[in-house]
Formats: sequence, structure tokens, C-alpha cells
Amino acid sequence: MFLKELKLNGFRNWNLGEFTFSPGLNVLCGNNAQGKTNCAEGVFFLCTGISPLASREKQVIAFGREEASVSGTAATSFGDVKVEISLKEGKRKQIKVNGATLSKAGDLLGNVNAVFFNPDELKLIKDAPSDRRRFLDVAISQLKRPYFYELLRYNKILEQRNRLLKEEDEETVWETLPVWDEQLAEAGSYIMVQRQEFCEKLAPYAKAAHAALTAGKEELVISPECKFTGDQKTIFHAFFEGLARRREQDLRAGFTTVGPHRDDLKIEINGSDVKTYCSQGQKRSAALSIKLAELDIMRAETGEYPLFILDDVLSELDKDRQKRLLSKLSGVQTVLTATHLDEEVFQGLSYRLFTVDHGTYTVREEKG
Ligand SMILES: Nc1ncnc2c1ncn2[C@@H]1O[C@H](COP(=O)(O)OP(=O)(O)OP(=O)(O)O)[C@@H](O)[C@H]1O
Ligand SMILES: [Mg+2]
Repeated sequence: MFLKELKLNGFRNWNLGEFTFSPGLNVLCGNNAQGKTNCAEGVFFLCTGISPLASREKQVIAFGREEASVSGTAATSFGDVKVEISLKEGKRKQIKVNGATLSKAGDLLGNVNAVFFNPDELKLIKDAPSDRRRFLDVAISQLKRPYFYELLRYNKILEQRNRLLKEEDEETVWETLPVWDEQLAEAGSYIMVQRQEFCEKLAPYAKAAHAALTAGKEELVISPECKFTGDQKTIFHAFFEGLARRREQDLRAGFTTVGPHRDDLKIEINGSDVKTYCSQGQKRSAALSIKLAELDIMRAETGEYPLFILDDVLSELDKDRQKRLLSKLSGVQTVLTATHLDEEVFQGLSYRLFTVDHGTYTVREEKG
């Protein structure tokens, strides 16, 4: 699938940006602070309704404006999909797909898939387990909408259970906990099974992508770190019992100490934990390999590659890794941002070049 057109209206520093993208490689080039990342963010936002960068969604509305809209049309194997998203201060965002308003924002997922990567994604390797869980959650949700809704349900139940754990009246707590435990185990076991299945599929693709990126010098191994494993029924019982066993501990802590909200993803290169032992460049490459693997998984599951958004990534890699990365992207629509282009790296490649300047651009075709 590929995005044909994108319109950013009052989105970040794009007062009005209308883009016609190439189905292949699109390069947004320009000085710092001109709007390249903002456009890349807009592409992902159009596809998923999620900003990969804003902590609060309304941050994307241009300064001094009260509303923003992002719209565009993608070509997919099911035909053209037109997506329109509008955001207003103080209101819920409105999403239309092919003219019909969605009742739930999550229903946008899976229409036009996208993978976003920027230097911040290093948090996938470096930071807290929550960043790795977020990666899994966004990736799986795009492939399986029920996962997204089950995750929302899980988080709601978890919040209620945690609130109960802080309750003063002990009798109420002990009487009510089993009810929440059962619901939590139900939603949680589904999430854990889906994450395990996804990781199993992701691992060989990530290993292959990393071998290609490092010319076979490094072996990347990823595996889920889950408290409970097995099929959903087995996990349900183990998780339910685990919750019952930890009631005292949870009460003392004031929150739920076991469940998929505490799981992690283990990432190793040549047998060493990447977070603790690997160089910056290795971490970056590992994060990139995992994202490349996400492209492959989506292709395997849906029959089409998603859009690939590569924000500011080339400057972080050595020239060999840059060339190997770009050579892997044939057949994948890519939106890539950079402050300058290294002729040697781009030699022989065809791409559409958008030179971005203060929320506007000029465009040129480069034929390799
Ligand atoms: N909501 C907003 N409204 C208007 N402008 C914004 C908003 N959010 C961010 N900006 C501005 O957009 C400008 C461009 O940001 P962007 O991150 O897209 O730059 P860039 O071209 O990717 O630069 P770099 O090369 O440094 O990564 C910044 O100066 C920032 O202040
Ligand atoms: Mg940028």
C-alpha cells in the first residue's frame, strides 16, 4: 500500500501542506526546524490516529489555531482508502474513512498501516519496559483491531483493581478482588498470547534484517519476557492464580504487581544484552532491524508492505549501513527525512525530493 496524497492543515508548522507522494522513496530534505519531522508525524497520524511524538495529541494543532486536520488517500489492495482526521481543542477527534465517520477511533487501525522510526525509537532498546510494550501494542493493534480494544479493556480493569487496592474497607476489598481478578486474567491472557505469537513471528525477521544491515557480523535475538507462557487457557489459569497469590503483596504495594503490564521484550546481539553491553550504533541498528522486521511481518500478515517513515535516521548510521538500509526498501513506500543528502549513498536511487523550508516545500524528481 502507499499514500498517494496528504494534506496537512494547521498541523504543527504546516499551515497548509499538500503533498503528492511517489509510491517509492520520498525524501524530505531541509535545514533544522523547517517541518520535516512534522510532516513525517502527519503521515503516521493519518494512518493510525496516533502521534508517535506528542505526549498530548492536541500538541499537533498549529500554534494560535483551534483546529487541525490531516487527510489523504492511500492505494491499497482493497482499493483507495480516503482518511480524514480533524482535531479541535476540547473535542474528541473525528475520523472519517471513505466519507463515513468512525464511532471509535480504533476502527481506523488496519486501514492504512505504517511503521515509524526516528532516533527517539532508541528508547525501544534503552529505556523502560513500557517503551517495548508500547512498540508491541502499536504494532499488534495495526494487525489486529480486537487486540487494541482488549488492551483498552485490560487497562480499564487494571485501573479499577488498583483503585480497589487502595480502598480502606478491607472486607470490601477481599470480597471484590476475585471479580476483578477474573476479568483481568481474561483480558490479560489474550494480550499475553498475542504478544508471544507476535514476538515469535518477529524474531526471525529481525534476525535476518540485522544480519543484512551488519553484513552478517551480528546476530540479533529477540524474545518475550513474560511471566506466563503457553496457550490462552493455561495463561488464564496461571495468571488468575498468580493474582490470588499476590493479593497481600498487591495490597501492600497499592497496585497490581503481576500481569502483561509488567512484561518485557529481551533483545540480544551476539549473546549480550543490547541495553547493557552494546554500542550506540549497535543499539540504533538493533532498533532499526526490529522496525524493518515489523515491515516484513505486516507484509506476511496482510499481503502488503505498510508505509515506512524514517525520520532523521541516516545521519545516525555509517555509510555502509545507510546503503544497505536503502537497498532493502524497494517495494516499500518510504518517507525519509534528512538535513542533507550524501550523494554517494543516494547514487543510483530514484526518489522524489521535497526541499522543506518553513512549512512549505519545492519538489523535484531524481532518477537513478
Ligand atoms: N503545534 C505547533 N505549531 C506550530 N509550530 C510547531 C508546533 N509544534 C512544533 N512546531 C515547530 O515546528 C518547527 C519544525 O519542527 P520539525 O520537528 O518538523 O523540524 P525538522 O525540519 O524536522 O528539523 P530537524 O532537522 O531539526 O529535525 C519547530 O521549530 C517547532 O517549533
Ligand atoms: Mg526533524
